[in-house]
Amino acid sequence: MLTSMKPMYELAEEMEFALGAFNVNSFQQVKAAIRIAEIYNSPLVIQGAEAANGFIGGIKDYRNSTLDEKKRGMELLANAVRKYGENSLIPIALHLDHGLSFEVCKAAVDSGYTSIMIDGSSKSFEENIEITREVTEYAHKYGVSVEGELGVLKGVEDNVVSEESTYTHPLDAVKFVKETKVDALAISYGTSHGANKGKNVVLREPIVTAIKECFLHENLHASIVSHGSSNVEEHIVKEINELGGELKNAGGIPIKQLKTAIKAGVRKINVDTDIRLYTTRNLLRLFKNDPDILKDEAINEIYNFMKEKPSAFDPRYYLQNLIPSLTSFEEPTAQMAKVDKAVEDAAMEIIGKLIVEFGSIEKAKYINYRTLEELAKEYK
Ligand code: G3H
Ligand code: 13P
Ligand code: ZN
Repeated sequence: MLTSMKPMYELAEEMEFALGAFNVNSFQQVKAAIRIAEIYNSPLVIQGAEAANGFIGGIKDYRNSTLDEKKRGMELLANAVRKYGENSLIPIALHLDHGLSFEVCKAAVDSGYTSIMIDGSSKSFEENIEITREVTEYAHKYGVSVEGELGVLKGVEDNVVSEESTYTHPLDAVKFVKETKVDALAISYGTSHGANKGKNVVLREPIVTAIKECFLHENLHASIVSHGSSNVEEHIVKEINELGGELKNAGGIPIKQLKTAIKAGVRKINVDTDIRLYTTRNLLRLFKNDPDILKDEAINEIYNFMKEKPSAFDPRYYLQNLIPSLTSFEEPTAQMAKVDKAVEDAAMEIIGKLIVEFGSIEKAKYINYRTLEELAKEYK
């Protein structure tokens, strides 16, 4: 059943766990995410970033897709989530990740997304408030939940907190939430995007505590979100490199630190890189164990892309010619089914693991489910 993130945040606050929010770039990943969340009886957040929507919309050069192309991707993705998830017994939200403009956020709401993020963190504080307020007003009319962002995710060098901190200031967070009425706030406290977060990253979880305390004092109910939170486990990097990949200086956020952050009050944790890494490992392993499938031209092409650029771990690079089959409900050929299975298994393995670690396992049944129409009335 589809719903916004609002009922999920309410429960996560009450039962003190975090929702993993998982980025997808294909229908196979949507199917896999729903399947494993069902097995673990967990609420589920599936995320499509702007680039993902461009890619799903059919554009190989997905960083440069137009609003119309992204809108096409949004509609396709929302369709896939409905097909696999509408009759599911777990609550599922389709969330826009890092929406950068009002137009993109509006397109997501209009396309069937049930939750959105407006990322105004690169703008001035006042401009960020203005665009976030505008987006929130629009989204809440349709019962769609909104996440804003304050602070810049730069990361820190070896535990040193720089003098000019780009971390989120708790008092700014209070003002921002009061004025924008967002349901959730992405903060900066030491995480960063990608597979090179640095060695021995130490999160400043007292920032989470401070923001949480300030919200409590002011009776604000926004939930705290942690972006750039992939684990980038040593074992997966090692496996990829042993299978022919070339990942250098890889490093992520250890689960132990994320658990401390959850204790301090983080309620949504964004993960994309880990899914990409597991997918890369699975495909390299498939080609090694079943070289016969390389006789298939399309599969051989994936293999060549991976071989020519062993540092690439974003599946959108090596699967760039497969957009039609990544966005189709049709049965694949017997050979291509093996590729699909590798992609699906990767998503199921890492998402399942994080559902357990973040504590959302078995929480689906406690959600106070409401439709978007009901939520729209509540916001009014
Ligand atoms: O935080 C960003 C997400 O990992 C999305 O990445 O823009 O490469 O799709 P993307
Ligand atoms: P990672 O790159 O750490 O997976 O972060 C993903 C993210 O924050 C998506 O918004
Ligand atoms: Zn992010």
